[in-house]
Amino acid sequence: MAPFSRFLVAVAVLLAVIGVVAAGGHDDGGTRYSGIFSFGDSLTDTGNSLHLAATRSGPTSRPPYGETFFHHPTGRASDGRLVVDFIVDALGIPNPRPYLAAGESAGDFRRGVNFAVGGATALGPDLFTSRGLKQFVPVSLANQTSWFKNVSQHLGSVHERRKIMARSMFLVGEIGVNDYIVALVVNNTVREARTLVPHIVAAVRSALTLRRLPHHHQFNDH
Ligand SMILES: *[C@@H]1O[C@H](CO)[C@@H](O)[C@H](O)[C@H]1NC(C)=O
Ligand SMILES: *[C@@H]1O[C@H](CO)[C@@H](O)[C@H](O)[C@H]1NC(C)=O
Ligand SMILES: *[C@@H]1O[C@H](CO)[C@@H](O)[C@H](O)[C@H]1NC(C)=O
Repeated sequence: MAPFSRFLVAVAVLLAVIGVVAAGGHDDGGTRYSGIFSFGDSLTDTGNSLHLAATRSGPTSRPPYGETFFHHPTGRASDGRLVVDFIVDALGIPNPRPYLAAGESAGDFRRGVNFAVGGATALGPDLFTSRGLKQFVPVSLANQTSWFKNVSQHLGSVHERRKIMARSMFLVGEIGVNDYIVALVVNNTVREARTLVPHIVAAVRSALTLRRLPHHHQFNDH
């Protein structure tokens, strides 16, 4: 999986750059972020995996995960912090609550939520099933955006919601690498993984615009 490790490093560097640009942005008289809404997989999950039945007792629930910074496993796929932790630190905003760990009160969500789940895919179960493949965990980007829609409905009036969203940073990703890993692990052919590319790009695009996927992207059209 060496090419994937390189890919992950590249993604992490990209996220760090985005974080730095964002952190620099609020100093020149512009917006100050009050919170962050984040989406993604294990590169961004700060605790959801500990609250999901499929991953609750997985590797991130045990040392060495968490041992260097938090001194206990937090569900992060790291011994220390993730890029998202450094971004919120640089922006001086609270670490977003993992969605699946949060209490019921909408107040918990006003300063951001982390919807990222370790192992999550960009694509939903239907496309995988149609190819004889199976997700690692039953969470896709569509689950995360529907959680977000649900949360946003509980944040108050439309006006209030707009105010909160206008002050919030949105971090989408990294997401999609698990889709390729699922295809490569099960089938071990780059060709199979490559056929997923347009579907994954469409799924990410649809999450960014909060639009439903066109029907032909939900099912195998190859
Ligand atoms: C995610 O959505 C799928 C339907 O597409 C559903 O079967 C699954 O239970 C959802 N996952 C969670 C954790 O809610
Ligand atoms: C929607 O949000 C409410 C309040 O946060 C929560 O109690 C409920 O379980 C959520 N429903 C879904 C389908 O996620
Ligand atoms: C795995 O790859 C082979 C060769 O490319 C292909 O014929 C087969 O249908 C694939 N199987 C699955 C389950 O994707």
